[in-house]
Amino acid sequence: MSSNILVLSGSPRKNGNTERLMSAFVDGATAVGKTVKTFCVAGLKIGGCRGCEYCFTHNGICVQTDDMSPILDELRKTDALVLASPVYYFSVTAQLKLAIDRFFALLEDGMPVKRAALLMTCGDDTDAAAASSIAMFRQIASYQKWDEAGIIVAPSLHNPGEIEGRAELEQAKRLGENI
Ligand SMILES: Cc1cc2nc3c(=O)[nH]c(=O)nc-3n(C[C@H](O)[C@H](O)[C@H](O)COP(=O)(O)O)c2cc1C
Repeated sequence: MSSNILVLSGSPRKNGNTERLMSAFVDGATAVGKTVKTFCVAGLKIGGCRGCEYCFTHNGICVQTDDMSPILDELRKTDALVLASPVYYFSVTAQLKLAIDRFFALLEDGMPVKRAALLMTCGDDTDAAAASSIAMFRQIASYQKWDEAGIIVAPSLHNPGEIEGRAELEQAKRLGENI
């Protein structure tokens, strides 16, 4: 079981369905005493990884000083990582992907993350729209040696608030309790 959890949400929409799914997860985790830190990365200034490898020779410090710096600091002390995003054109949002690419700074030194989960919402009426995001998540998890703690995809969502009363909220809460 994890005690320190980092949640990165890629939805740019405040009070949207992804944020609600994420908050159900956070409610479950905090109810059982876990420490959860949440960053809504779409509202932050996070540059794309430059591939310069400065971090490889500077103790995992990225050459860019931007809003990714506190997230990298959290990743250095996190047991469990949760990625949350709406499906945008069959992928996670570009804003979340920018943050994921910046994990590169911790590649040499590693990070203490042991398990990871994926929370997604999409407009299509099946979860097939999330297939490439799930594949990406699983490949990253395998590469980083993270256990898969859970994947929740909530389909058929368009307008904010539509997720209320849906089973996926209860699933996210239980995942938060058990991660
Ligand atoms: C730019 C954009 C692209 C989208 N692309 C897809 C898509 O490829 N497949 C899909 O099922 N839904 C797509 N959607 C719908 C959202 O994934 C869905 O409405 C989601 O629940 C929105 O989450 P939010 O309330 O957190 O903003 C897209 C929405 C936007 C704004």
